[in-house]
Amino acid sequence: MNNNPIGIFDSGVGGLTVWKTLLQEFKNESFVYFADSKNCPYGNKTNKEIIALSSFIIDFLIEQKCKLIVIACNTATAAAINTLREKYSIPIIGIEPAIKPASLLSNTGCVGVLATKGTVNGNHFKTTSEKFAKNTAVITQIGYGLVHQVENNLIDSEETKKLLIRYIQPMIDNKVDYIVLGCTHYPLLISEINKITKGKIHLLEPSQAIAKQTAKKLKEHCLIGENTSRKTTIYTSGSNFSVIETILSHLQVNKFEQIEVKRFL
Ligand code: DGL
Repeated sequence: MNNNPIGIFDSGVGGLTVWKTLLQEFKNESFVYFADSKNCPYGNKTNKEIIALSSFIIDFLIEQKCKLIVIACNTATAAAINTLREKYSIPIIGIEPAIKPASLLSNTGCVGVLATKGTVNGNHFKTTSEKFAKNTAVITQIGYGLVHQVENNLIDSEETKKLLIRYIQPMIDNKVDYIVLGCTHYPLLISEINKITKGKIHLLEPSQAIAKQTAKKLKEHCLIGENTSRKTTIYTSGSNFSVIETILSHLQVNKFEQIEVKRFL
């Protein structure tokens, strides 16, 4: 048994979509979440920069006594996970676009992937697509500007709708039946995306897979928590408290949860 918190981080608030699933799945675990909103987006940064930022955050999460780290960011996983796993002994779980399940589930033989530039250009993305989607046509679209819209509380804006139509319409025209949301900010846009697809395209996001992997690692490393009054502390390196508030209400996090939002200084 280990009642220390699980550490989660993202370039910003997107990883809260992963945290929400972990919160539902692990009733006796506490969490420390780090949103690096000051340095968001990571999608345009070099691997070296992302490795440095991620190392800084992991050091901080270890100081907060975290027992396991979830990188709730596809872009940071693509750029940094191998180096981070070499550097740290703490278990680290990463996240990557669900191309394999999409290609296995597709009936039309055509799937869409919406992800950041960093994720799409990462080596891992290419090898995963080649390996797991051999017999599937994959329409890949970089979601330019979408992370910015979410980080700036603009989820419901006209600009966000326009961007989504621009990215999703070609996928509809090509008869994709699954769209992989390859960035943890994008599940916050699901209701807008569903309006465009009229709910006819399945959207895949990986938070359940992450929960499964987390359960496996907690067990393997004897780290399962038994907190009776658990807590989440959310740190942000930005000054986006109101955005975090909006996202927490959007995610409908149970109001009985103990959640504290703090500025990282
Ligand atoms: N949520 C991050 C991801 O999953 C966004 C990356 C970015 O900041 O560009 O990739």
